[in-house]
Formats: sequence, C-alpha cells, structure tokens
Amino acid sequence: MKTLDDLIAEGVADRFVLLRTDFNVPMDGFTITDDGRIRAALPTITRLAAAGAKVLVMAHLGRPKETHPLGRDPVMTLTAVAGRLGQLLDQRVQLAKDVVGDSAHDIAAGLESGGVALLANVRCEPRETGTASERDALATELAELVPGGAFVSDGFGVVHREQASVYEIARKLPAYGGDLVARETEVLRRLTGDPARPYVVILGGSKVSDKLAVLTNLLPKVDTLLVGGAMCFTFLAAQGHDVGGSKLESDQVDTCRELLTKYADTLVLPSDVVVASEFSADADTRTVPVTEIPDGWMGLDVGPETVATFGARLADAATVFWNGPMGVFEMAPFAAGTTGVAEAVADSPAFSVIGGGDSASAIRAAGLDEGRFGHISTGGGASLEFLEGKELPGIAVLEEA
Ligand code: 3PG
Repeated sequence: MKTLDDLIAEGVADRFVLLRTDFNVPMDGFTITDDGRIRAALPTITRLAAAGAKVLVMAHLGRPKETHPLGRDPVMTLTAVAGRLGQLLDQRVQLAKDVVGDSAHDIAAGLESGGVALLANVRCEPRETGTASERDALATELAELVPGGAFVSDGFGVVHREQASVYEIARKLPAYGGDLVARETEVLRRLTGDPARPYVVILGGSKVSDKLAVLTNLLPKVDTLLVGGAMCFTFLAAQGHDVGGSKLESDQVDTCRELLTKYADTLVLPSDVVVASEFSADADTRTVPVTEIPDGWMGLDVGPETVATFGARLADAATVFWNGPMGVFEMAPFAAGTTGVAEAVADSPAFSVIGGGDSASAIRAAGLDEGRFGHISTGGGASLEFLEGKELPGIAVLEEA
C-alpha cells in the first residue's frame, strides 16, 4: 500500500487531495457527543495541509434511507462535524451543499493551498451505496472534482464497505493509505498474528447474529472470551435460564448451545445482571443472579459480581480485544458494567485494543485516560471484520493500487 509519506514525498503543494475519513460520530440532536473520530483524522489532515495540499474531505453520517435533496436532510447534515473540524484545526472548513454538484465544484475550485473543505454527507448521494455501475459513475464524478489530484483513504471505520468514496474512487485516482489506516491495520495485525497470551476477548453489543462470525473465528484462537451486552441473554437462554423480557434471539439459541458445549473452557458468561421493569432510565431496577431474572423484567447491564469475574480474567491477560458495551451505557443506571470493565481493561497489564465506536465512546464517557489503553480503534465493524480474517475491500483496493 502506498502511504502518506510516499504522497508527500511525491509532492502535494497546490495539488488536490480527496480524502476519505470516518466522521460518523454519535450525535444528540445536532450536538456531537464524542468527537474521537474527528480527532483521529487530524494527523493526516494537518500533514496534508502543512505540505500545501488542497484537502477535500469526504465523509458519511448515519445511514440515510431515503433520497433527500442533497445535503438538506437536517438529521444527516455534516454541519456540526464541519464546525468541530474547523475548531480543532483552527481554520475555516467550508461545507459543500452537495457531493458532486455545483456547490462541491465551487468549493473545490476556491480551495487554496493548505485549505480544508468538506463535501456533503456522501451517503445523501444514493449512488454511494448503489450498484457497482452507479458507484463507478459517482467515483468518476468525484475524481473530476479534483483534477490532477490524489486519493487518500483514512476512514478506517468504513474500509469494510465497498462504497464509491471508499472503494471505486481508489481505482480512479492515484491512491494512498492515510496515517490512521496505517496505524489501525498495523495494530490489528498484532492480534491476528501471534498475540501474547493469555489472549482475552470481551464481546458485547446487542445482537449475537452480528457477532457470530467473529465468535466462531475467534473462539479457537483465544484463551478466554467474556460475553456481555444484550447478546449474553441468548447464551444464557441456551444454558437453560429464563431470561424474562430480556432481548433474545431465539433463532440463535441452538448455535449458542453448540458454542457453549464446544468451548466450555473458553466462554465466560455473566453470573449476575441489572434488570429493569422497562427500557427507560427511570425504570425500577434490581441486580439479580442470572438464575433469578423476574418475569417481564429485562436485563440491561451486567452486575458487579460479573464485573469482578471479568476483571480477574483481565488482570492476568497479556492481550485484550474489546468490542461492544456490556449494557445500555448511555443510560446512567445501566452504565456501571461497561465502566467497570473499561476500568479493568485500563488496569490490566495487557496490550489492549478497543475496537469500535461504542466501546471507544464508553471509555471517553467514563472519563478514562485514553493513554491507559494500547490502542483505541475508530472502527467497530471494520476491526471485527479484520479479526474475522475477512478481506476489507477498502484496504485490498489500496494494496492492489
Ligand atoms: C461505523 O460507524 O462503524 C462506520 O462509520 C461505518 O458505518 P456503517 O456501519 O453505517 O457503514
């Protein structure tokens, strides 16, 4: 893969660079609640700007379903992102009203050496996620925005997507991997290579079905796999427990039972959970053993005994990978499990990798010093697919270039 160093050595002064980033940040209305992904993109942007490039950034926010008039969907606009990026860079960042329309062309034409501008949310352009020929056509138009320019791929969180601004564009312009993509792939290769042992993986999040591929792939390779989050209830049901009103994927129970039998020594499930009368921050709550979940109550976090058990495994670990919160950490009564596990990972002497938007946000929300973790990945789905051993299209296309 050609790197940012290669591009800068070739010379970028006064040259366009079309840069893909992942600015898919969590929002509360129009407020960014965690700007980690924006900050993670700064090294590449500042290096390009300092070298005199005209930096035109492509990013997405959310998964817009309908075709909105470009850039006008109030929920999906990158206005807050452009504002935050401008603050962090301490320079004006103009936001185009469209992706490849008149506004994008005007803004590109007005970019000066060292300037940075942002195209409208690329996913508000339906061809971004369309058929191969639609994506190809969009990539051609994106390349036309930056005559003589280069493409830098630095949105690690989106490299598992075969989308126009990630994949097809790399075949239209000279393509390079940015510093974030280089660092993320280097760290994750340490985990897929020969990790120091014991190797402990913590998986949370809501759906077993989303995590099944990574579970199946990782179980033979790890020493311990700690399961939390809503997905633990499908495992608990497979052990024969009544999980009350907790989230349950009935069609995955048999698979979980097989995994529990085959990997009895590796899989560790919660022993206690925080249950609530309803899915609300104001609900009545109780901490109960997993054998005593009351009828109709739903488990929304792991309990303190579980945090202690998981913590003991983490204290002995040499390598840790964590993806997915332990509970509904966005609501204060169900945050303790995630915070407790985050603290245990931070205290562990292991080389720790935090994979994923939610787990990374949870660490920052808990106010933990990021320096206490080996690496906080910006990619949730991307880091999981990397560990599953899948080929990531956005990386493969750079290697092929
Ligand atoms: C993410 O949030 O994991 C990335 O930005 C990718 O988003 P997506 O899952 O909507 O493609």
